Amino acid sequence: MLKIGFGRIDLPRGGALAVGVIENKTMTPTAALVERKTGGALTRAIGASRFTGKKGEILELMVPRGLDATRVLLVGLGKAESFDALAAEGLGGALVGKLALSGERTLTVALDALKGNRLSTAQLAARIGYGARLASYRFDKYRTKEKPEKKPSLVSVTVSSADPQGAVKTFDRLAKVAEAVEATRDLVSEPANVIYPESFADECRKLSKLGIEVEVLGVKDMQKLGMGALLGVGQGSARESQLVVLRWRGAKGPKGPIALVGKGVCFDTGGISIKPAQGMEDMKWDMGGAAAVYGTVRALAARKAKIDVVGVLGLVENMPSGTAQRPGDVVTSMSGQTVEVINTDAEGRLVLADAMWYCQTKFKPRCVIDLATLTGAIVIALGNVHAGLFTNNDQLATHLVAAGQAEGELLWRLPLAEDYDKDINSDIADMKNVGSGRGAGSITAAQFLQRFIQEGTPWAHLDIAGMAWTSKDRPTVPKGAWAFGVRLLERMIADHYEGK
Ligand code: BES
Ligand code: MN
Ligand code: ZN
Repeated sequence: MLKIGFGRIDLPRGGALAVGVIENKTMTPTAALVERKTGGALTRAIGASRFTGKKGEILELMVPRGLDATRVLLVGLGKAESFDALAAEGLGGALVGKLALSGERTLTVALDALKGNRLSTAQLAARIGYGARLASYRFDKYRTKEKPEKKPSLVSVTVSSADPQGAVKTFDRLAKVAEAVEATRDLVSEPANVIYPESFADECRKLSKLGIEVEVLGVKDMQKLGMGALLGVGQGSARESQLVVLRWRGAKGPKGPIALVGKGVCFDTGGISIKPAQGMEDMKWDMGGAAAVYGTVRALAARKAKIDVVGVLGLVENMPSGTAQRPGDVVTSMSGQTVEVINTDAEGRLVLADAMWYCQTKFKPRCVIDLATLTGAIVIALGNVHAGLFTNNDQLATHLVAAGQAEGELLWRLPLAEDYDKDINSDIADMKNVGSGRGAGSITAAQFLQRFIQEGTPWAHLDIAGMAWTSKDRPTVPKGAWAFGVRLLERMIADHYEGK
């Protein structure tokens, strides 16, 4: 794992050195020092390129004379006053992206004070380290024949600033979130022959070492509770369905815990309404919502957050077989409401229906937030930029959107309305699990979920189908599992609920 450290501003001995340049080629003090030591090499390099100091630009100089460094990276910071936490993370991430496989072993990032910037030096330094750490994530346990030159060379990043102690303190907390993000990415990346309901539950049991109370319900327990909707989805699989409850009591919840509910379809073949072969392997990450709930509760417990939170994970495998549920089957959910299963591939909502009902009945939460890779339609609507947000509560919407913006996990709110709701009425049961038309597939899915929210409970649904996995590298999310939702929810709870 990449080692992240903090120190005072000083020119390093050996290794790579990154120095900042503000918009319009204005050098920061350390850049100016390097410029003098190298007899003007930076100005000459800038002159020979199109580098201007805009945010995100990087210009690399190899073995400059006059300096004990293998390379100097000039990094554009943009305007000093608008270099924010996400820009700092992006910078740390971009440098790791550039150097990870370069042969370089160590990197020092010199962070000089930025005039007019709202954030403290410690905050900015810590965020650079955080970005570097998140960007260095790799899931390589199954690569047994990787060539040495394809393996990361970079082992340590040191961010030097005027306040290394403050940076260490700030980073300490961020590192706990990073650990949870990494664990979430691991779970999502694992194939479905390794992470299935019972093995996922086993991973959850390990969280008890952080002081999280873990309870696992099996099929028999769920039958007793009448969870016909969830159980119907899992009945075609040789793997036993599980419901995991994670409780972190870091505070007495005067209004009940915050409840997080995750869709954990460990593999979604579609069931009897089977999916085409092309791309079906992606459906190993149909448990990304449950993994994000696992990660959020883990992060909160790791940093001993003063909050009462409960996570409920509905873990199933959606398979076609002789015991699988059929299109047209009618199931009775724990709420007593009956559902006609028109399409066995619209399974996530069936799992969530029982998980959410159980959660509300048992814990009387102050609000419920569910996360689910629920619909392909949300990817058509929003692509891989925003997750869909549906909620019955404007304040919850404001809090979630703001936290997402702050952490680089964007949400876009979509409507709920009675006319959409009518679309899931069934001729023979209380409802059917898909709408009648082809339109508004993500909304009718959300309307279905809303039918399992009890009167007066603030609720938000995050459709993360486009965000669980990224097919291209992003500054702090390498190609692969994102762990979308962990940073967002941890932040929202910290900003608006913790200690309140
Ligand atoms: N897990 C899928 C949704 C999905 C699709 C997630 C693509 C990520 C990428 C979900 O269970 C599903 O199959 N939804 C169906 C619903 C339809 C049958 C109403 C869909 O979106 O096609
Ligand atoms: Mn499906
Ligand atoms: Zn699914």
